[in-house]
Amino acid sequence: MKKRKDIITVAIDSPAAAGGGTQAKLIAKHYNLQHLDTGRIYRLIGKLKLENPKKFNYSLIRKKIKNLNMSSLQNKNLLSDKVATSASIIAKDKKIRDIVHQFQKKCAYAPPLKYAGSVLDGRDIITVQVRDAMFKFFITASLKERTKRRYKELKNLNKKINLNIVLKSLKNRDKSDRERKHGPLKKTKDSILINTTKLSKKACFMKIKDIMDRKLKA
Ligand code: C5P
Repeated sequence: MKKRKDIITVAIDSPAAAGGGTQAKLIAKHYNLQHLDTGRIYRLIGKLKLENPKKFNYSLIRKKIKNLNMSSLQNKNLLSDKVATSASIIAKDKKIRDIVHQFQKKCAYAPPLKYAGSVLDGRDIITVQVRDAMFKFFITASLKERTKRRYKELKNLNKKINLNIVLKSLKNRDKSDRERKHGPLKKTKDSILINTTKLSKKACFMKIKDIMDRKLKA
């Protein structure tokens, strides 16, 4: 992979439903960056496991990642809670993470020329994937607020769901994502903390934009 020079790189880490993905999308649009929601890749593999429990192995995953394109990550059926849980289980596997990383690095450092750079969001983007990112944001929100948001999201997808199940599932994923051995979610000292609990999407983006513009225009 040939890295592109002088591109804008934005790395975002955040727990589930904290607003990391939403802000990444807004940043991508405003600054013309390629956006990769890295959770979608783990979800794709988590779904692969649910659908092919017997055939699920590293070579199947490698094949899937090799043929991966951005549009296959947009599939709405990746958004269910069952798939998210399966994703957080397979995401503990170091070998699987290594396979996913190759794809992510390319998106981060060699985005297509039409883009001015890249923005990746996930759990280990600042800590592992894009350690030298120009901008590093750790986006979080209270568990209560995240539960409310995720519940609304799943309701909009017509999923039969109850608030307590959403809460429990987020709690379990938080624990697994924070305590796992490889690529655990944690805030680095050099990342900027943004708490979205009481912020609207727009207010949150304005805060980020302010920080980015100050550096880009300096
Ligand atoms: O972000 P999202 O909720 O879609 O991620 C689903 C799961 O994928 C997470 O709970 C986490 O276990 C895993 N993941 C990860 N590393 C990333 C992104 C997501 O392990 N960079």
